[in-house]
Amino acid sequence: MEKVIVSPSILSADFANLARDVEIIQECGADWIHVDVMDGHFVPNITIGAPVVKALKPYAKVPLDVHLMIENPQNYVDDFVKAGADVITIHYEAAQDMTEDIISHIKSHDVLAGLSIKPKTPPQEILKNLLMVDMVLVMTVEPGFGGQSFMHDCAEKIPVIRQNAPENLIIQVDGGINAETGKICRDLGANSLVAGSYVFGAEDIEDAIDSLRA
Ligand code: DX5
Ligand code: ZN
Repeated sequence: MEKVIVSPSILSADFANLARDVEIIQECGADWIHVDVMDGHFVPNITIGAPVVKALKPYAKVPLDVHLMIENPQNYVDDFVKAGADVITIHYEAAQDMTEDIISHIKSHDVLAGLSIKPKTPPQEILKNLLMVDMVLVMTVEPGFGGQSFMHDCAEKIPVIRQNAPENLIIQVDGGINAETGKICRDLGANSLVAGSYVFGAEDIEDAIDSLRA
């Protein structure tokens, strides 16, 4: 079976000990580190920005997977590239008719480009973009907070995207992922899973990360 990229979200880490927590999840087998950037406009919460990505970069032995839940992502891509992001995902709802331009700009920096859709956005809206992106991120909660429940309806978008995608497209799922919902998403065609509360709330983080691949 194809390898699943597990990307624990540091939104559920201890923000006063981020470097330590990044090292812990890497030792426990994280493939990527998922960084949730929120601006208080696109989503009703504020988290962290490019300076924190830059500060974490020296501790990151695996790719930094930056999920931009922000308005006007075009204005911030360069900051995150300079900070050391390896994957940058923008939201289709924030980019709209600038999607192609922003994706091309991300890729021109040799950074992987992702395009995300919120629960209410139909997958058909981004089928036209599948040839140009490296990854699609299907949100299975309303973005903004960790610890919410998985929305099963949203997972139905995965096969629609998979059927229309080039072979190497990464399909990532984010929101309410645990061993059980992760398996549902893998069976539907996802090959990258983000998990925040499930990984950081686990008694055994290594087991939790492994269970997302099993
Ligand atoms: C939600 C974020 C997620 C969040 C997931 O807006 O994009 O990455 O950290 O948290 P859990 O896994 O707890 O649902
Ligand atoms: Zn995220």
